[in-house]
Amino acid sequence: MTCKYKDIIMAQEAARCMLCTDAPCTAACSRSLDPARAVRAIRFDNSSVAGAYINKESCADCPAQCQSACIHFDRPVRIKEIALGLEPSELHKADLSIDFCGVHCENPFFLSSSIVASSYDMCAKALSMGWAGIVYKTIGFYKPKEVSPRFDAVLNSTRSFSGFKNLEQISDHTVEENMETLRRLKKDFPDKVIVSSIMGQTEDEWTKLARLSEEAGADIIECNFSCPHMSAHGLGSDVGQNPELVSKYTEAVKKGTKLPVLAKMTPNLGHMEIPAIAAVDSGADGLAAINTIKSITNIDADSMVSMPDICGKCSVSGYSGKAVKPIALRFIHDMAKCPELKNIPISGMGGIESWRDGLEFILLGCSNVQVTTSVMEYGYRIIDDLVSGLSEYMYSHSIKKLSSLVGAALPKLCPADELDRDSIVYPLFDKSKCTGCGRCYTACSDAGHQAIEFDSQKRSVRLIGKNCEGCHLCRLVCPAGAIGISKRIIR
Ligand SMILES: Cc1cc2nc3c(=O)[nH]c(=O)nc-3n(C[C@H](O)[C@H](O)[C@H](O)COP(=O)(O)O)c2cc1C
Repeated sequence: MTCKYKDIIMAQEAARCMLCTDAPCTAACSRSLDPARAVRAIRFDNSSVAGAYINKESCADCPAQCQSACIHFDRPVRIKEIALGLEPSELHKADLSIDFCGVHCENPFFLSSSIVASSYDMCAKALSMGWAGIVYKTIGFYKPKEVSPRFDAVLNSTRSFSGFKNLEQISDHTVEENMETLRRLKKDFPDKVIVSSIMGQTEDEWTKLARLSEEAGADIIECNFSCPHMSAHGLGSDVGQNPELVSKYTEAVKKGTKLPVLAKMTPNLGHMEIPAIAAVDSGADGLAAINTIKSITNIDADSMVSMPDICGKCSVSGYSGKAVKPIALRFIHDMAKCPELKNIPISGMGGIESWRDGLEFILLGCSNVQVTTSVMEYGYRIIDDLVSGLSEYMYSHSIKKLSSLVGAALPKLCPADELDRDSIVYPLFDKSKCTGCGRCYTACSDAGHQAIEFDSQKRSVRLIGKNCEGCHLCRLVCPAGAIGISKRIIR
């Protein structure tokens, strides 16, 4: 694939890939190459390594059995063309290790507390596949009874999750069973980081859960002050929204342990810094954010029930995944910039799917990142591209220490009244890529400044410079990537 739309087509083809288990395309390759791994790398924003698995040299004269073996329900993914668009590439290893709350981590990627880290076998599998640590499913004396179904998703046009809603509460194993799991995990994976997520109903319970977690061998304790859909009151985000309760329970946890303690914060408020300061003033060593955002999804137009339908009803409950990432980043930024929270380690999460998502959290001040929803959608294997994508980035930017990136983007965020308002950047039209679809014209006419002329005979567009305000809606709606950015000039 050498055409001018190569990057877009590659990304769209990779997005169509169903990411099969035991992928038939790879099984069919007579040259023992790994087309499935290459397509997965492209899918997870890690194209620069895809050429290590298939490429134009290895695949040029091949009859593409991989593509014939594709089981896509519509048409096969164009694997051969993808291969022909890839230069051979090498995999570079960078040192991704970083300290978090004084604990050494081989890389910054942890599973976050949820169903994905809720048994010995699941955690052991994830750790063996390269995750540096796990935050175990929240442990408490409170015994939850779950609803069915307990999940819903807002899907995009390729049926992947834009956002994900859950009604799940804390672990339904007993405290004893869970502590035994933590003990086994630490014994079998001494170099990995085991975080015990806990939730008490009273100060005594918080203290006891902290003590038991330390005795079981956990490295760090995370206080769940943030699950938004507990079926009993005074738990989860009821605590995180109330700085006095955050203070009281953080102190209770510190009474039970000498381990580093994280306060996991709820985004269901305006200013996360307020309860975060309460936690730190009461002894928390670090912060974790975000837990899920209160939400309602997919109201059925016939039954008028929002999803998931539980006997004709549903509740407001937690939203996670891709859609929440910008909101999570904003909360991380607020805490990282708060003077009272200076130098407090932050573990960031909310919508991390690719290495670049993780990097964005690091650049805003996180020295650790956690993932749930994208593991629920794609499995633990996403660690491959998280690790190799971040390695590749560090290698290509000659970055020796991951810690040097922590908070690097913070100085470039400022209040709106400090932004430059005296210059303008016009859109730059690449005629060779323009298909004449007219989307830029429609957007500019109906939602911009009527600065684009459309010739329907020639199917071409022209910018009317005097009308253009440089808002760049045209560039964002262009399906062909034919509009770029020109040089910034004084208005
Ligand atoms: C199914 C599910 C169960 C969860 N259970 C817990 C939990 O037990 N304790 C907790 O602190 N957070 C829990 N969370 C929140 C996640 O740990 C995480 O904070 C949130 O989902 C945002 O990250 P993500 O977008 O990567 O999923 C859960 C999330 C989901 C989707």
